[in-house]
Formats: sequence, structure tokens, C-alpha cells
Amino acid sequence: MRRATSIAEVRAAVRDWRRGGERVVFVPTMGNLHAGHMSLLEAARAHGERFIASIFVNPMQFGPNEDFAHYPRTPERDAHMLRDAGCDLMFSPDVAEMYPRGAEDSTRLEVPGLSDILCGEFRPGHFQGVATVVCKLLHIVEPDAAVFGEKDFQQLTVIRRLVTDLCMPVHIIAAPTVRDADGLAMSSRNQYLSAAERARAPALQRALAAAARRLAGGERDYAAIERDGLRTLEAEGFRPDYFAIKCAEELAPPGPDSHHLVVLTAAHLGKARLIDNVQVRV
Ligand code: PAF
Repeated sequence: MRRATSIAEVRAAVRDWRRGGERVVFVPTMGNLHAGHMSLLEAARAHGERFIASIFVNPMQFGPNEDFAHYPRTPERDAHMLRDAGCDLMFSPDVAEMYPRGAEDSTRLEVPGLSDILCGEFRPGHFQGVATVVCKLLHIVEPDAAVFGEKDFQQLTVIRRLVTDLCMPVHIIAAPTVRDADGLAMSSRNQYLSAAERARAPALQRALAAAARRLAGGERDYAAIERDGLRTLEAEGFRPDYFAIKCAEELAPPGPDSHHLVVLTAAHLGKARLIDNVQVRV
């Protein structure tokens, strides 16, 4: 596996592979890799011959009081894991390579309507940061396909809209959420949980599953299901930001005839802010 820190190195590698007729699949990450990220690489396999993963903790997507400085960074361990998973190139630029004039003063992208709801309401500027860095990374790598996890469902929706709106010739692949045996979705931020909080954390997924069962059973009082979800989480010791039912395609409010729904939640538990979702076809 090659390691690159500059945009020029990535472009040269991709140019060589393309000349040989190989398709390139890209997995953007912020590093501190776990089995969830490995499943993204696994999903990449069916879509090309060459695989690039990026490791970049993007300052633009963190708010001023968020965990940018403390976000776990484990580049050597990540490199081993990527090598073992058959990755061809690990791109780990520094902030100056990605934002030569600083993240604050760089051009940023806005995906209207999707960026300020759900997590966007509680993390102002977050999705501008995500959209901007993903757009930059896709321009650098120019992959045939890129893989994103369904765990970050709103992020996936923002990225799908971004590539459509900007006519980017890349196929976006959604990879299912990977969970621990007790149902907790894998996330680097699970490390912020104490042992007692970790034991309580699967209640998040159970609350989503309970809401999904009610929807699948024909209930359509979305507001009542959302209220119950919030109450359940509070009773379990979470401080929920939201518990919401949306249409899965564009995260619009669901109507009585909506068939593909997603229940999404974000909730604080101790120092960790956990997010999860479940899709329901009714
Ligand atoms: O999901 C993530 O790890 C990040 O938001 C992403 C897509 C790599 C952009 O920084």
C-alpha cells in the first residue's frame, strides 16, 4: 500500500491506474478505523480494482466547542488495517494541504434544505464542512465510486444531493451500519463512553427499533412515535437532540402515503454524542 500526503501524489497514482483501465473506488474517513470502516472497504470491492482511503480529521465540520482537538488520531494503526484490507493508497493530508488559506477563509458549500435540519440544527455549519471536504476529496481522487456508511444517514443524503447538483460523475455506494453484538452502532465516538454508559448505550438502537416496529405495524401518528422515542431515551439517561421520522429519500416530513421511512436520532450520553437510524419500508 502506498501512502500519500499530497494531492499531487494521489492524482499521479490515479492517472496511472486509469491508463491501465482500472476503476478506482474511494473510501473517505476521519481515521481511527474500526470494523465499520472496514465494511466500507469491503463494500468497495465489488465496484473497482483500485482502492483509496483518506484519513483526514476535517476542521471545517467541527463546531468551536466540539471535539476536533481530541478526536482520536491513530494513523499508524489505521495504515496497518488498510494494508491488511487490501487498500492500494492511503491519503492522509495535513490541514494546510487541504485548506492552504485555512479552513475558516476557504470556499464552503451549502446543500440547502438538508444542512440545517436534524443534526444540522444542533451542529450549525457541520454539513457545510462535510459537503466542502467531500467535494474537495472527490475532485482530488476523481473516483468511479465512493462509499459512505448508512450510519451517517443525513451525511449520505447530503452527499447524494451534492454530487447530483454538481453533476459529479461518481457513483455513491451506501454501506449498511455495522453494530456491536448488543446493537450499538460502531463509532469512534463510542470511546468517549464510560463502562456504565457503554452498557446503557444500546438503548438508542432499541428505541429506534421500537419506533420502526410501530411504523411497520401500520401506525401513522408520527408525532406520537417521536415523542415516545424522546421519552424512552430520557428515561434511559440520554439527553436527546432529536428523535425524528422522515422520508428516506430526501429527509422530507412523511405523509400518510410515505412508504420508505427512516427513523433518526442523536443523543448525548455522558461526553459522547451518539447518532443512529433505522429504515422502514411500509
Ligand atoms: O463520515 C466521516 O468520517 C466524515 O464526515 C467524512 C465523510 C470523511 C468527511 O470528513
